[in-house]
Amino acid sequence: MTPTQAPFPATRLRRTRATPALRALVRQNELSVNDLIWPVFVRDGEGQEEPVPSMPGVVRRSVDLVAQAAAEAQALGIPAICLFPYTDPGLKTEDCAEAWNPDNLSNRAIRAIKEAAPEIAVMTDVALDPYNINGHDGYVVDGEIVNDATVEALVKMALAQAEAGADIIGPSDMMDGRIGAIRDALERAGHHNVSILSYAAKYASAFYGPFRDAVGASGALKGDKKTYQMDPANSDEALRLVARDLSEGADMVMIKPGMPYLDICRRVKDAFGAPTYAYQVSGEYAMIRAAAQNGWIDGEKAMLESLMAFRRAGCDGVLTYFAPEVARYLQG
Ligand code: PBG
Repeated sequence: MTPTQAPFPATRLRRTRATPALRALVRQNELSVNDLIWPVFVRDGEGQEEPVPSMPGVVRRSVDLVAQAAAEAQALGIPAICLFPYTDPGLKTEDCAEAWNPDNLSNRAIRAIKEAAPEIAVMTDVALDPYNINGHDGYVVDGEIVNDATVEALVKMALAQAEAGADIIGPSDMMDGRIGAIRDALERAGHHNVSILSYAAKYASAFYGPFRDAVGASGALKGDKKTYQMDPANSDEALRLVARDLSEGADMVMIKPGMPYLDICRRVKDAFGAPTYAYQVSGEYAMIRAAAQNGWIDGEKAMLESLMAFRRAGCDGVLTYFAPEVARYLQG
């Protein structure tokens, strides 16, 4: 040691970690109820609520109870709710016509929510999988998922949702050209203020397993979704997809799944500065819940840490099944 060198560390980064007050002062990111979009599952009947076994704490609700849940979410300050229908297998067909039935489960739920909780934004899912006999997001012709015919069906589906009162259309199908086609149809129908949150970078992921149970698509799905959903090995392609969807009229973009793809969230936010969301998907939720139930991790802390990670990675918000629980926690 030379005499000019002090006998202590020149930089003590622990100083600003020393007390809760100092930690609060230097904290860079905040998690707020405004960052939450709550995905919910809708089933038929009245007064019905049934648990989704692979997603402890998550239930499928009949339309009346979804409306009630939306009112509770609104009271908690959650800005948006996202609907996923559990469609009666008898309504699944090759042409997926139930997808644009004005009175399908999802559209009935939109109207019921608008009545019970007019302030909460209602987001929908646009993809054919809940209505398709083979469980795919697009039409299957000779074993191939056909793009352009699927886009035509998706447009009809999105229009029916906008007609029912949806505020945010969420195309999750990964067909090419669907954002432009949907935007165009919405404008022509006078739905200028119906926005589009594109599932822009959606990966072919094993983490969707519990969701497919929740919407009853697991048994139906033939093969995999690798010809339309992204390869988990790719990163640059996500930027091309986001650029494309923004140029076609997407107002907001999503990266999905969430936690294993935080690098993509950061790249997308840095490159475009657009409203960016991550979907903390069913498998991510199930992992945290399962470990917590086994006493292996502290479920509440893991939930909060996982959500803060999305904020740190640049996301403006998160679709999360934890939404009501986090909102209650943040309320104190
Ligand atoms: C289907 C869709 C999926 C999810 C949302 N929309 C599943 C899939 O692509 O197979 C997954 C959500 C989750 O896992 O929580 N269009």
